[in-house]
Amino acid sequence: MSKSFEPNIVAFTCNWCSYGGADLAGISRIQYPTNAKVIRLMCSGRVDPSMVLQAFKNGADGVMITGCHIGDCHYSTGNYRTQVRYDALSTAMDMMGLHPDRLRLLWASASEGQQWADGITEMTQIIKKLGPSPLNGRGKPKKATPKKAAPKKEAVSKKKAAPKKAAKKGGAKK
Ligand code: FES
Repeated sequence: MSKSFEPNIVAFTCNWCSYGGADLAGISRIQYPTNAKVIRLMCSGRVDPSMVLQAFKNGADGVMITGCHIGDCHYSTGNYRTQVRYDALSTAMDMMGLHPDRLRLLWASASEGQQWADGITEMTQIIKKLGPSPLNGRGKPKKATPKKAAPKKEAVSKKKAAPKKAAKKGGAKK
């Protein structure tokens, strides 16, 4: 029986809003998939594009950047930067052969536990449909191609094999 694919999702959360939303979802016992690994940062604007690419490189099938709603960022303009970076990253991922749906932006306040849970659920379903990331090599057949055994080196004598004596011209006399 084949094991079903369980996506590995990295979710960057901002300390003030979306992390609170994730916490509220847990406190409220809202059921949602456990595929997301939460990484807490002070602001979604702290998510550098290299962090997203590193997550994919390290085996993530999907990445979520979550933060306060536009206008609610505790650092005024952090999530505006997030929006700009997200758009640029989506384009770059497309060029790299990574489906842009593997990256998602979610705004959720600390009182929106249900939105958080719905976002994770939806993302998990999307990634399940897309399958494992082509960057992490999962999902490919695990059978390693057997290495061809190197041909045995035959002992080569230093002396060249003597050429066969040419048959005498004329052959045997009758
Ligand atoms: S503090 Fe939440 S997005 Fe900036």
